[in-house]
Formats: sequence, structure tokens, C-alpha cells
Amino acid sequence: MPDKFLSKLKSARSAHTFRDYILLPGRSEAEPQEIDLSSRLTRDIHLKVPLISSPMDTVTEWRLALEMARLGGVGVVHRNMSAEDQVEQVRKVKRSRADCRTKDDKGRPAVGASVSPLDPERCRALDRVADFLVSDVAHFHNSKIIEASRRLLPGLSAPFIAGNVGTRQAVVDIAGELPRVDGFRAGIGSGSICITAEVTRVGAPTLFAVAEVASGVEEMGLDVPVIADGGIRGPGDAALAFAAGASSCMLGSMLAGTDESPSKVVTRRGRRFKVHRGMASAAARKVRFALDRYSVPAKGLDEGVEAYVPYVGPVSGVISSMENGLRAAFGYAGAKDIKGMWGTATFGTVSAIGAGELGAHSIEVKKR
Ligand code: XMP
Repeated sequence: MPDKFLSKLKSARSAHTFRDYILLPGRSEAEPQEIDLSSRLTRDIHLKVPLISSPMDTVTEWRLALEMARLGGVGVVHRNMSAEDQVEQVRKVKRSRADCRTKDDKGRPAVGASVSPLDPERCRALDRVADFLVSDVAHFHNSKIIEASRRLLPGLSAPFIAGNVGTRQAVVDIAGELPRVDGFRAGIGSGSICITAEVTRVGAPTLFAVAEVASGVEEMGLDVPVIADGGIRGPGDAALAFAAGASSCMLGSMLAGTDESPSKVVTRRGRRFKVHRGMASAAARKVRFALDRYSVPAKGLDEGVEAYVPYVGPVSGVISSMENGLRAAFGYAGAKDIKGMWGTATFGTVSAIGAGELGAHSIEVKKR
């Protein structure tokens, strides 16, 4: 075929991002307060609020994880610490007597732990204490990772969420080769602090990844949730992710600036910030290599940045404005719950020029 390479360009697919789309209004049958935002995370864990805190070392340790469970979401404790410390962080959540909306079958707060399938010892240690394990590798669709997971899974009892993935084919391969998989974490390259796609020009933006992965889940006849992960800036992005097939959304930078995140408040030019960083940033990788003998600096490449995020006060404020925004979005889109978003919500595309019309414009904003 003489134009083999030209046709590769011509047959390029659209890798949809949040900014490319809006949801179209649909007939509303429910008032915002009647909308049901509950979701299933695993067979036994139900979320009243479909939000999960990301396993990043500037986001989720015991304090934020506990608060997420109290508010009806859930947290996933990061792994940028020794396995013993991570186990202790999870135990601290489980030991708390706080009145939580997200609970295990014994009524204790539910909490997840992030793991790498290449570190089976840590996986087994966390399997004994956490309610679910979330794989925390940048590209799960990798033969070595799939093979390591295949060997690991028969010895684990907690639900195992595979990630990150970004394509339908990843789901087909993973579901076909693993003895079980209890969910998928979808999105590669969209995270606020992420430069993977910028550096490598490879990525599966979160909205695209969710739609691909949810299609793969349906095709394989799996009944497991898809978690949208990376680049969610507010309820609108989350609403788009639900309409594209997500069951819950994972938040990093939106929670890094809260009181409950582990990083310190810093003042710059009279304003308060908290430090946030990608887990593949130079600073985070340095900690990981010092701690974890399984973390081989295979790529020798930084794929995240260090940043400041505005200090935003307690996590309860962020979650409640997400809840309010989601209720409004579901109402406008004509859905009374997440399944309704999967079924009835329809997308509209936004042009690069038109995008400016969909916010405050042609005026000088006095206060926001
Ligand atoms: P947000 O936008 O919520 O995204 O802050 C959080 C998600 O970003 C991913 N993540 C990274 N991706 N390099 C990456 O390519 C990194 O250093 C990095 N750190 C986190 C991760 O999926 C997280 O949940």
C-alpha cells in the first residue's frame, strides 16, 4: 500500500478532552435534591458521593482518607512511603471511631491503598488491612505488569482495581489474562501535574479513556466500575466523565489544597498555597527510589511537575461544592442518577473559538 503512512495520519482518532465537550440539556424529572449521586466502588463498598482521593503524597494519607469516608467518598493512601508506614496509615483510618458514610461490612471507615503489582510483598501486606487495592502504575497495559498481576491475584482477597489504562484494548487484554479484575482506573496524561503526554506525546486523555474503557468493560460483559482519573477541575468535568461511563471520579489537585492533605501551607505574595507534586516528578521519584527497592528508575524520566495549589480550607467545602455542582449538572442533563447519565446524557462539541462564550465574558468580573 503506497500510502500506508499517510493513511495512518488520515485515520487518526479524536482523543477527546474535557474542554472539547459540553452536555446538552435534557428533560429533567428530578429536582437537584432528589438526584442520587450514590455509586458502587466494589461489590461491598458503596459511595454516597462518587469521589475518590488520589494516591499522591501531597493528597491522601490517613487524615484525608478518613475525611473522605466521613463525607461519603473514599480515599486511597499513597505508596510513597515504606510498606510498614503505608499499612499503619491504613490502620489509622480503620481504627477511627468517626461516624463515616463509607464503611466496611463491620461499620468501620472504608479505605483503599495504592500498590504496584511489581511489589508483591507490599500488596500482600496491604491486602490484609485495606478494603481495596488500586494499582498505581502509569501504564498497566504492559505485559510485565499484567503477568505480575496474574501471579499475584490468586493470593489476594481484596478487590483489585487495575490502572491506569486508557483504551478498550487494554480492558480486553487485562480481562482476558487476569483471573479477576474488580475495576479500572482510566486516564493517562491528563493530570494537572502530569507531563507524560507533553514529554512523550503519548496519552489517553481522561474523557476519551473513560469512554474507551467503559466500552471495553461492556464488550467483555464485566460488571465493574470505571474510575475517571486526571484533570478533573470541577463538577462540570466530573459530569462529563459520568456521561462517558465513569462510576466515580478521582481527584488530585482539587484536594491537595485542603486542610486534610499532608502538605504544608506556604504563603507567597500574601496568598496561601499548599505544595502539590506529580508522583513521577523528580522530587517524588527521589523519595520513592530511596524507599522502595522495587522502583527501578527504568525510564530515567520525570513525568510530573512540582506545583503550588491555592489553599482552600477543609475538604468538606470542596466535596459539598462538587455535590451541589453535580446535582445541578445531572438536573440540566436530565439524569436522576449515574446510570441515567450513562443512558440519557448527550454530548455537544465546543469549538476552540466558541469555548470563550461558555463562561463569564465580555465584562470585567468584579468578584467571583
Ligand atoms: P489531578 O488533575 O486530579 O490528577 O491532579 C491526578 C492524577 O494524575 C496522575 N498523576 C500523574 N500523572 N505524572 C503523570 O503522568 C505524574 O507525576 C503524576 N502524578 C499523578 C494520577 O493518575 C493522579 O490520580
